[in-house]
Amino acid sequence: MTTADSEVQFQLDGEQVSVSDDGISLLEALRDRLGKRSPKDGCSPQGQCGCCTVWVDGAARVACVTPVRRVAGREVTTLEGLEPAVAERWAQAFTETGASQCGFCTPGIIMRLASLEQRGKAVDDDAVRTALAAHLCRCTGWCSILDAAARVFGTGSAPTGAAGPGGTGDGTEGRRDLGAAGRRATLEGGSVQTVGPAVALGGGGFADDSAPADALVAVPDGEGGWVVAETLHEARAAAGKVQGRNSTVAVGHPLEVPAGEWELTLRTAFTEPAYLEPDASWCAPGATAASPLANGGAFGGKLRSPVAAAARRLADEHGRAVRVVLAREDVVAMGPKRPPIAAGVRADGSGRLRVARTPRGGPLDGWRAAVALVAPGLLIEEVAVPGPPVAAAIRGAGWAEATVLMGALRARRSGRIGPGHPVEVVSAEGARATATVAADGAVRVTVAAGDVLDEIVLRSYAVGAVHQALGWVTSEGLAVDGEGRVLDLTIRSFGILTARAMPAVVVVIEDDVGPPVAGADAVFAAVATAAWTAAGLPAEWPLQRGGRS
Ligand code: FES
Ligand code: FES
Repeated sequence: MTTADSEVQFQLDGEQVSVSDDGISLLEALRDRLGKRSPKDGCSPQGQCGCCTVWVDGAARVACVTPVRRVAGREVTTLEGLEPAVAERWAQAFTETGASQCGFCTPGIIMRLASLEQRGKAVDDDAVRTALAAHLCRCTGWCSILDAAARVFGTGSAPTGAAGPGGTGDGTEGRRDLGAAGRRATLEGGSVQTVGPAVALGGGGFADDSAPADALVAVPDGEGGWVVAETLHEARAAAGKVQGRNSTVAVGHPLEVPAGEWELTLRTAFTEPAYLEPDASWCAPGATAASPLANGGAFGGKLRSPVAAAARRLADEHGRAVRVVLAREDVVAMGPKRPPIAAGVRADGSGRLRVARTPRGGPLDGWRAAVALVAPGLLIEEVAVPGPPVAAAIRGAGWAEATVLMGALRARRSGRIGPGHPVEVVSAEGARATATVAADGAVRVTVAAGDVLDEIVLRSYAVGAVHQALGWVTSEGLAVDGEGRVLDLTIRSFGILTARAMPAVVVVIEDDVGPPVAGADAVFAAVATAAWTAAGLPAEWPLQRGGRS
């Protein structure tokens, strides 16, 4: 109920609670006033990622677009309030199938799927995909989440297959070493990552979850500085935060292919790394700031994040703990993108490769070196264009583009254009991946990456790389205006493939000798090449704006 002094009362995880209604959303009430940190803020108030999903009177609801006053007198359940046996069942299923990597999206997904479970009706794969339409996951590529759901719902008809050394790949044989699983995840993700049920339940240790409740909150002011206030609600209001909208402007290709007689050309767009956990940090005066990379590498997108240094400085300035939080719109505007290219390649592998350099972008020396490793015959030209920051640190940037170009050239020379032709890639570290994209879009991948360490995690990362590669080629890209401002500010507008758009994927993990090496980047480049050659090598990516919803 709502009282005269605008106090909103409702049941929260079985207890009566009361919060003042100053226009806040249910998500703000839960996270910032009532201490519930399992619902995550991936895009508020866009309502597009599903990370904040909770139950209202037993039905799954997106908390960031639910005004708190709307739940007056009702019953709200977060993952913390879920019946322990139910939460445990889902957490185990997610862990046993590799359905949680960073674990930022999974609390919301578990709440959504558990809401289907409590209805007591049969739930098939189609119903699960429909339910997942309200969610995004950047890490896993969906297949393992579908596997986890199939395990809990007892349908057992997971759409993916997996086979590897000594087993079926479903994790049921033998005892599992979660420490080794974490080592494989850390290797693949490029920063420390743990594996286990707590991660699936949202306990990945995210900086915005561990910040003290009474910390000041800082948000970007849009001009390179920070607005500091007592609460996130106040800070965003003071900064004049406006919800980003989807753009109807087409994804552009900022670079022209150099003039010349080319066997092969390709133009790509600015691409958002699109990690789900927005950059966040907090710091007490004189202390060390919390890392924005709590449980995963963000595909290289957070390596130069400003939030930790800002938290450190602002805490000292204010003499209090300060929490620094980017909204989704801030991440899009400030964060680094995969740099666009325009390439022309001759049959002998020589040619010219242009790469976009932008005013706030980092140096591209690493990008150039990565290209030279694979395609020494390409003359690289950095071209200054207006645009968002670009970075050489984004997943395989430079190396993957050069690998795709050289792989496609080999395919063309040998007449292996069209679906069904395997493409093999070997990474600089020695990981080997082979990918085939069939006429119906189904993907088959084999990967050899040294000591497997944990087959479930390696498979999960391989499928995640398939998902990201297919998105890169077919659907991902950002619309940017003439002054370089990104127009696609919502998380749905980046073109991340949805659960329903994801094809069937089979991953075969090969026995391999030697120390473990990261395998997912080799899968990423192999699948991108296979998807492009399967489509007939059209000259511009993304091939369509499909997969958006
Ligand atoms: S934070 Fe609510 S849907 Fe993304
Ligand atoms: S596990 Fe889904 S976004 Fe990371």
